[in-house]
Parts: sequence; C-alpha cells; structure tokens
Amino acid sequence: MDETKYHDLYARSLRDPAHFWSEQAEKFITWFKRWDTVTEGDFNRHNVRWFLNGKLNACYNALDRHLETKSGETAILWEGNDPEKTKKITYAQLYENVCRFANVLKKINVKKGDRVCLYLPMIPEAIVAMLASARIGAVHSVVFAGFSPESLASRINDCDCEIVITATVGRRGDKIIPLKKNVDEALIHCPGVRHVIVVEEANQPAPFQEGRDIAYHDAMKTAEKQCPCEIMDAEDPLFILYTSGSTGKPKGIVHTTGGYLVYVAMTFKYVFDYHDRDVYWCTADIGWITGHSYLVYGPLCHGATTLVFEGVPTYPTPSRFWEVIDKHRVSIFYTAPTAIRALRREGDSWVKKTKRDSLKILGTVGEPINPDVWKWYDQVVGNNHCPIVDTWWQTETGGILISPLPHTTRLKPGSATLPFFGIVPDIVDEAGQSVEQGKMGRLVIRKPWPGMMQTVHGDRERFVEGYFKDVPDCYLTGDNARQDEDGYFWITGRNDDVIKISGHRIGSGEVESAFIASSAVSEAGVVPVPDEIRGESIYAFVTLKSGIKASDELKKELIQHVRGSIGAFAAPKYIQWAEALPKTRSGKIMRRLLRKIANDEMKDPGDTSTLSDPDVVNELIKNRLVL
Ligand code: WT7
Repeated sequence: MDETKYHDLYARSLRDPAHFWSEQAEKFITWFKRWDTVTEGDFNRHNVRWFLNGKLNACYNALDRHLETKSGETAILWEGNDPEKTKKITYAQLYENVCRFANVLKKINVKKGDRVCLYLPMIPEAIVAMLASARIGAVHSVVFAGFSPESLASRINDCDCEIVITATVGRRGDKIIPLKKNVDEALIHCPGVRHVIVVEEANQPAPFQEGRDIAYHDAMKTAEKQCPCEIMDAEDPLFILYTSGSTGKPKGIVHTTGGYLVYVAMTFKYVFDYHDRDVYWCTADIGWITGHSYLVYGPLCHGATTLVFEGVPTYPTPSRFWEVIDKHRVSIFYTAPTAIRALRREGDSWVKKTKRDSLKILGTVGEPINPDVWKWYDQVVGNNHCPIVDTWWQTETGGILISPLPHTTRLKPGSATLPFFGIVPDIVDEAGQSVEQGKMGRLVIRKPWPGMMQTVHGDRERFVEGYFKDVPDCYLTGDNARQDEDGYFWITGRNDDVIKISGHRIGSGEVESAFIASSAVSEAGVVPVPDEIRGESIYAFVTLKSGIKASDELKKELIQHVRGSIGAFAAPKYIQWAEALPKTRSGKIMRRLLRKIANDEMKDPGDTSTLSDPDVVNELIKNRLVL
C-alpha cells in the first residue's frame, strides 16, 4: 500500500463506517450467522454496539477454520526460559488440546458466561486455557503471574470466578515463582472458588488440596477430544482484563466477541503487514492486553505462527532476544520500549553477535519511545531495513488505534504517526475544545470503533464517569498528545494518576492504599518520576503514624510491603518522609503538586505562596531526595 492509498482508504472508512466495517467483518472473521446491524449507539449514551445479532466463536476463528489448510503448521512456537527447551505445537495439536481442556472445564460444570481466572506463566497451557474458555463461552480473566496473592484475590472476587487455573511454579530467568502457593494464599479470601486446575511442572511439587485441586495433565488424559463450539452473540463478553485507573481498585475491562475479534484480526494484518509463513513474536505477557490481542487472538485468527517466550530478555545473557530471533527465524518482532532501553544499555556487542537477517518488521508498544532509542532499535537491531511500528493503544481500546503501516507511512522517530482506519483522534483543551495544531492537550477519540471495551465489570458508573463524562461525545484516553504539521501524533504520557512502570500500568491510589495498609503509615502520596530504563518509577511521600520512628530500615520494610501487596513491578523506588501532605480544601492529597516537588520543578518558593499550607510544601521541597 502506498501513502495515497492509506489516505483514500482512511477517508472511505469514515465516510461510510457501517459499510467499511461490514466488509472487514466479512473478510477477517467467520460467522455462524451474519449480523443484522453493523453498529448502533453513541458515546453520549454509552451504548455503542457492534455486529448486532451476529453469531460467532473466537476459538473457532483462532483454530477450527484453519484445520483444513494448516493442521500441520506450527501455531505455537514455544521457547522456554531454559534455552534448551523448545516446543512446536501444530494447529491440529492445539485444537485437540483446546477441545480436551474445554471438556475438562465442562466436567466441573463451567458454563457459558461463567468467569474463569487464569494465573499462569508463559506456557502453551495458558493459551490452551484461554481458547478453551472461549470455546465453551466462559469469560477468561487472566491475571498477570507477577501479581501478589492479595491482588489475585481481589481480581478473583471482583468478577466471581469459581475456577482458577494455575501452575505449580513459573520460571523467569534464575527465579522460580511459587504460583500455586500464591493461589493457595489468595484463596483464603475467595470462598467462591470451587476448583483449582494445576499445571504441574516437572520436579516442582506443590501442596495439593484433595477435592478442590485438579491436576491438569491427569484431567487431560481422560478428557474427550471433541468439543463443539458454543455459539456466541457478537456482544457476548469474551474476556475481562483488569487494569489500573487513577483512583480506587483496578477495573475489569470487558471486551466482547464480535467487535473485538474483527478489530484485532484486521489491525494485526495491516499494522504488522502479516503474510503467510511469517514467524511472529510478541514479547508481551498474556497477563496484559498486548498478550491477548497480539500474541493470541490476532495472530491465531490469521493461522500464524506465534512465538511464546517464557523467560526474560536478559537470561541467560542480554543476547537472548536476538538469539531467539535467529534460532526461530523471526520475521516480525513486537516489544516494549523498556526492554529496548534495558538491552541497549548492555551494549551493541550482545546484538551484533547475532544475525537478525530474518527480521522484516519491528514494533513497539506500552509507552512513548524516545527518538534515540527508536534509532538504536532501527539501526542496531533492525540493520536499517525494518520499518518500526510505534503502536499506540490501551487495554480499553482492545487493539491498536494509532500506528504507522509498514512500507506505507513515512516514519518519524518517536511518533506513533497516524490513526488506523476508522479511528478519529483529536486533541482537546481543559474545556473540551479542539486545540490549534501543534498544541499539546488531551487525547480523545471522536468516533466509536469495533474493539472498544463494552463496560467495566460490575461498575457501569465507572465506565461512564471515567471515559465519557468530561468531553461530550468523545472517548477520553487519559493521555496527553500533540499533533504536528503533518497531522502526526506525538503521545507524551498520562494526564491522570496512572503511572507507567516498564510499560505496566499502576494507579497512584492503589500504591497509596498499599502503604496505608501498613501499620506504620498514616498517609501516603504517590507520584511518578522519570526512570532511565523503566520509563517511570514511584516516588512516595509517606507520613508515619505518631510514635513510629523513621529509619532506612523502615523504608526497606515499606518497599517490601508494597511489593508484597501488589506485585514486584509496583515496588516504590524512593520514599521521602513527610511531616504532613498538602491537601485541597476537600481533603484530597495534591498529587500534582507532589509530582512537581519530586521532579524538582518547585525551586521558586513563590510557587507555594497561594497555597493554604505553604509551610508543609516548603518542608517537602527542602527534604526532597536527590534522584
Ligand atoms: C497506556 C495504555 C496497549 C498495550 C500496552 C499498554 C501508554 C501505550 C504507547 C505508545 C506512547 C503509549 C499510554 C496508554 N502507551 N502505547 N506507542 N506511545 N504511549 O496498555 O496498560 O492499557 O496502557 O500506555 O499512556 O494510555 P495499557
């Protein structure tokens, strides 16, 4: 496609969206029954629907329909944490495993609409479990295996999962993560869970609760290998995935079957310029949306070979990614800026000792990529001949909304460039008015698209308030951006209290709650500060309860405490003791001000003169930690 063709097709996608999306839905997805109406509803009434009365099944689209032509081709190319361990799973084998596991679920009475929680490492069984749930119409809720028992428990309870699927352990580099033990701890607080299915890893015994726990491999042996697909409505939920907002507990983002599948299948094809026989590798974990959309559903809908990597980029050496690319002749590689930064820091020699001559397309996602890092990715990793797709999107959007198309869009390092077909982004000011070109503002999306979240599980209010309230007839992204003279989008980061650590999303409020749950802490204010490798890290202002003595020892304990209650990736990097925190009249902690203090942007004491409690602020400025 050339650039003119992109602009033509883009214009057409907006002129007659119903016609455009109905063509895409026919082209990319196999339906049991065609829809009656392509789309209905609007952002003001928060009732957008896609492919009304259309019937389909996501698992059927990912597997069954490829069997005739691709049964012997590799669906999952698994690369273990240990470089010696590799598995190739063909479409026929994956199909059989998924059918068997679907029958295992049925046997324990999992039915259409029931929620099933997955807490699994990056092993093929994780994908089997996702697809098997989809096959019988159960709604999967994958929880990233780096989350603590406490975080897991709250996600299990929020959507009433009765079944949890886990493994005895997970492996990441030289670390072994006791997943089953975490589940056991979590379940003390989850009375609704009936069964735990455990993928048993060799030589890793774990406690087994008779009656409740089920050994995966045993159950698979006796399960039937045929299982019909449940017929799902386009608007039936496919999955729930929890993500952090600026306040309160994580929200369960609900994605439906029809719109989501059409959108991820189409974007996968165009954004990665996917062709038969490509070997595609997305390094994201299935615990995040990238794993759902572009490791599982997008690639499998195309009958692609998707590489599933269990390990970490630096184990056994910082050459691992590049070695895996050579070993499996990867042609499309999709990763996060944080990984690129970490590997760039290790020096070019780790890259240069590999060939990477199979690579055709490079992708990035999760946070803004700095132009220098972009150029390194381009020159050193891509040998100057692979277009880089900087893809902007969110858990809520289901799929990529702003991204270059390879060999089509002229690239600019650091810009996510132009909107995908059917997507109408705009930048607005505080009052909701479109800003002049070049000005920074809040990124909104003006028109519905298939793939967009349907709701927040169990909290319609949060869905409406969080995304549609502030700017009429728009979807509010929570990001800031600017558009340049060519209409290119430059996304600069969040404008709410969401922090991005290594591309992972974490709410200030969540971390503050974790602090307050410690018996030593009276109050906490949590803000992001820049971090060379992780993008952002956490700077916390902590007020201790009276009688508690501040010490470095206590700092360490508190960091450990937050890590234990949320997960390792949420561990604060800096803690500053605070006598008191600046508050608004209504008693809310002024995070914006704290953010300025932490980032040393409040040198002028005059800045504080309008505050009701300037002394509190001046004290915090004085004691700021040197980063
Ligand atoms: C937030 C969404 C979407 C998959 C992974 C993250 C940031 C994402 C980019 C990009 C600049 C980006 C935004 C967004 N983000 N991609 N290419 N350039 N920022 O999903 O955890 O829901 O986070 O990630 O801030 O709002 P998520």
